[in-house]
Amino acid sequence: MKQYIVAGNWKMHKDVQEANLFVLNILKDLLNQKKIQIIICPSYTALFNIHELLKNTPIGLGGQNMHSQSKGAFTGEISGEMLMSAGCQYVILGHSERRHVFGEADDFIRDKVKQALAIGLKPIICVGEKLDERQSGQTLEVIRRQCDSALSVVTEHEIQHCVIAYEPVWAIGTGVVATPEQASEAHAMIRKLLATKYSKSTADSISILYGGSVKSSNAASLIQAPDIDGFLIGGASLLEDEFVKIAEIVDEYLKQKES
Ligand code: PGA
Repeated sequence: MKQYIVAGNWKMHKDVQEANLFVLNILKDLLNQKKIQIIICPSYTALFNIHELLKNTPIGLGGQNMHSQSKGAFTGEISGEMLMSAGCQYVILGHSERRHVFGEADDFIRDKVKQALAIGLKPIICVGEKLDERQSGQTLEVIRRQCDSALSVVTEHEIQHCVIAYEPVWAIGTGVVATPEQASEAHAMIRKLLATKYSKSTADSISILYGGSVKSSNAASLIQAPDIDGFLIGGASLLEDEFVKIAEIVDEYLKQKES
């Protein structure tokens, strides 16, 4: 069964104390959202503490990145095993900031996806086009290239443990959100790729999240659009009220859908 997911990507925000306080303040409200999977991806230094707070709750914990190797001379890097030992079940891979600010190539991201799955971490695989790529009509081609590469190492069994996030680079942190139609078109294309590579039933069971300037004011219209199965949220996930409100919107949408 496809899960609806609301994930917060805190990026390089919140120290250990701020992270603790944030989670303590909203934990009760988040636990009321029973239909959805909530995932929090704090900074590395806050992972262990947040894990302690989330222990015995259904709320997931994720890292924001990892290296493709288990260990070695990679100063400043973190391994998937380290994330797991701090309590993570998820890891964001191929985020646009990793791709475009830190120059991570498709091959490196593919190797990370392989490693995450090999050790039992669920990758949240991010794909998305830049503004000039959209403007020159290359959106679908870019998404196809990024998906093909990342999924080239993923079996039909393993894809069940993956989440895909469509995050158009021009919408990330800009306040310019994709329209439900633009997001839906990209999500449908990703779903089709999954159906071709695996099977239709498998494709239908994979959560495809939208990310890029999601707020409580646009979440309701986006979640109703076909093929959008939740959100990967940056800026708004740092605000207690906003994050809770978005989780409530998705949970409420599901309740109505099922009734
Ligand atoms: P944003 O970031 O919500 O601040 O646009 C989304 C992301 O980078 O995952």
